Amino acid sequence: MSEQIRRAVCPGSYDPVTVGHLDVIERAAALYDEVVVAVLHNPAKQGTFTVDERIAFIENALAPEVRERVRVEPFAGRLLVDVCRDVEADVIVKGLRGGTDFAYELPMALMNRHLTGVETVFLPGAPEFEHVSSSLVKEVAKFGGDVTGLVPDDVLRALTEKLAEG
Ligand code: PNS
Repeated sequence: MSEQIRRAVCPGSYDPVTVGHLDVIERAAALYDEVVVAVLHNPAKQGTFTVDERIAFIENALAPEVRERVRVEPFAGRLLVDVCRDVEADVIVKGLRGGTDFAYELPMALMNRHLTGVETVFLPGAPEFEHVSSSLVKEVAKFGGDVTGLVPDDVLRALTEKLAEG
């Protein structure tokens, strides 16, 4: 008798991935057999990085033993619950940096559960990454602040290049 694979989805914009995101993905991979990192994007809206760049940043940053159980895939114009159904995941994993994240995430978790019964598991964000978000990293980098250690090295280089482009 084959055992059912326990698969989780880690959704987000990942524009770009940060060390906080990677911590959550790695911890999700320790809890579940497989993790699908769903890079949700809006083709009509230009992000800082293309969806292909965002995916490559995530894949490159994962340690090989984590990478082999993680799929990174783009999704656009779809409900997260439909993504979960398609990839056969019954759990969404999200990191919470604090009460503000909880206030933002709770209605989405309840709505997703209302729609299909998919559960959301919240992982407490690592305290050392509590101040780290994609938007803050971009803003700090834009005005010349040092974001070393808050994003993978190739993201850091790419951010610097984008700034040089203006
Ligand atoms: O990294 P983000 O931008 O905070 O991620 C938000 C995301 C992509 C997880 C959320 O916007 C989402 O689930 N979008 C897919 C569309 C959807 O299902 N919306 C209804 C949520 S109840």
